[in-house]
Amino acid sequence: MLNELRERIAGEIRDRGAIAFARFMELALYCPNCGYYEREEDNIGRRGDYYTSVSVGSLFGELLAFQFAEWLRPDGMRIVEAGAHGGDLARDILGWMREYRPGLYARLEYWIVEPSAAREGWQRKKLADYGSRVRWVKGLEGLTGGNSPQPPGSRADGLRGIVFSNEFLDALPLHRMGWDAKARAWFEWGVTLHAGRFAWSRIPPGSSGHRRQEPSAAFPLAHFQLSPADGLLAALPDGFTVELCPAAEQWWREAALVPGCDQLVAIDYGLTAEEFLAPERKEGTVRSYYHHRLSGDVLANPGEQDITAHVNFTAIKAAGESAGLKTEAFLTQAQLLTGIAAHTWEAESAFGKWTAERIRQFQTLTHPEHLGRAFRALVQSRR
Ligand SMILES: C[S@@+](CC[C@H](N)C(=O)[O-])C[C@H]1O[C@@H](n2cnc3c(N)ncnc32)[C@H](O)[C@@H]1O
Repeated sequence: MLNELRERIAGEIRDRGAIAFARFMELALYCPNCGYYEREEDNIGRRGDYYTSVSVGSLFGELLAFQFAEWLRPDGMRIVEAGAHGGDLARDILGWMREYRPGLYARLEYWIVEPSAAREGWQRKKLADYGSRVRWVKGLEGLTGGNSPQPPGSRADGLRGIVFSNEFLDALPLHRMGWDAKARAWFEWGVTLHAGRFAWSRIPPGSSGHRRQEPSAAFPLAHFQLSPADGLLAALPDGFTVELCPAAEQWWREAALVPGCDQLVAIDYGLTAEEFLAPERKEGTVRSYYHHRLSGDVLANPGEQDITAHVNFTAIKAAGESAGLKTEAFLTQAQLLTGIAAHTWEAESAFGKWTAERIRQFQTLTHPEHLGRAFRALVQSRR
């Protein structure tokens, strides 16, 4: 299988020349049957390659469920999750709702946006206990009737609910752009073959061997809120690299435009545009994890290791605002979860007891050296 994937990528490079990194990432993670996220064995958690907040325990989902229960309105009982992966976060949210908000649970619809048929099958098994409370769509268009099914009972005013994700935007295929200081122009980092291995190669501006999103030398600037005349460019060293993820911005904009999307929430590894342009990030933020270690080579062993990069929250925020959403909060995970926890302390009976185990999980989720600072949460709303 993995040789098949390597051969498929190598074949594209032989046919077309160096391919954009976004294409390499798309195949490495999502190629049907052999991409990293198309494998059944779990790549998240102790036996996998990396931890997420969900692998810490059920508290993360329980706190989100408490917050969602406050936001949901009687005429809109829908939660939509993207990037649900193994279904663990859905299970934690639904489990808490069933136990602590049975009235709400009885009317709740939990929709999962899942393009992969294999992944949907594994999620269905994990969530079998929640029966018809859980429904699936292949893409956001399924929520608006673009493909069936759509939320039954959807009215003209649409979804009426919350669309959210955890560590989803950082897994979408991204472009790596480098600064050519001499030419004062951006080039794209592509992937080629060198001595039988995948290797980085500079794709010069104007080259036709790959799909560029925008041809101009100013390409990355808008995503970083810079103008071509910005003095910062003169100071960038040759090869300074930033990631662009038009797929994440487009997904966010489309989600923002789903009629009746009351709240749009993303929790993810991420930075502001300004933080991306710091001297210590001159190689960019793309990285790979294999068995809980940072892999030295992002291009090695496609299909066997995770590939991810920090989300540009400035660009995501702007995408939502351009679609008419209002930014309610942009916080660290520690701030988000501490704020929710403070409400649960006011009404512990309505949340469940803060056991020693829950407190241990809370510390891991919010400690700045663990998951508290590197993860950020963006909340936008249409209200
Ligand atoms: C890093 S994993 C998610 C981790 C999980 N949410 C958690 O908290 O443990 C990213 C997931 O996004 C899924 N994914 C990728 N593209 C997607 C898309 N367009 N729509 C929905 N899910 C997608 C992948 O298959 C993968 O399961």
